[in-house]
Amino acid sequence: MKIAFACDHGGFSARNEVFKFLKENDVEFIDFGTFSEDSCDYPDFATKVCEKVLNGEVDKGILICGTGIGMSIVANKFKGIRCAHVTDSFSAEMTRRHNDSNVIALGARISKTQEIIEYIKIFLTTEFDGGRHLTRVNKIKEVENANL
Ligand code: RB5
Repeated sequence: MKIAFACDHGGFSARNEVFKFLKENDVEFIDFGTFSEDSCDYPDFATKVCEKVLNGEVDKGILICGTGIGMSIVANKFKGIRCAHVTDSFSAEMTRRHNDSNVIALGARISKTQEIIEYIKIFLTTEFDGGRHLTRVNKIKEVENANL
């Protein structure tokens, strides 16, 4: 399992603990910043992670901003990215099982750092259910390809 990680200044407070968790669990990761609490633009960081997911260099992406919303909006602009904005454990599980999501977006101003780590843990360890959910994911791809 290899992942790409990025946060903006709003997600910076969770960064070190997330890295500690990933290292302790032997999850290889590429860190795309941000590298300080200085104000920055979350689209720049979401883009780097999504590019790596789409070119296959990593299996999944983790994005953290203040709410998780901005990061998720940007990520879902990319064809092939299914990004879930997660604020509870149930959603972390179900978005893997039902949506086969490949990016998770979290909010460090909404969730406590330990909650964020719990959501990441669930996201990284839960498999896609397939079956009728694969039919639905394929329909998402049809929507992407329709260029509406
Ligand atoms: C930054 O102030 C904040 O807007 C950003 O982290 C994020 O919450 C956007 O959705």
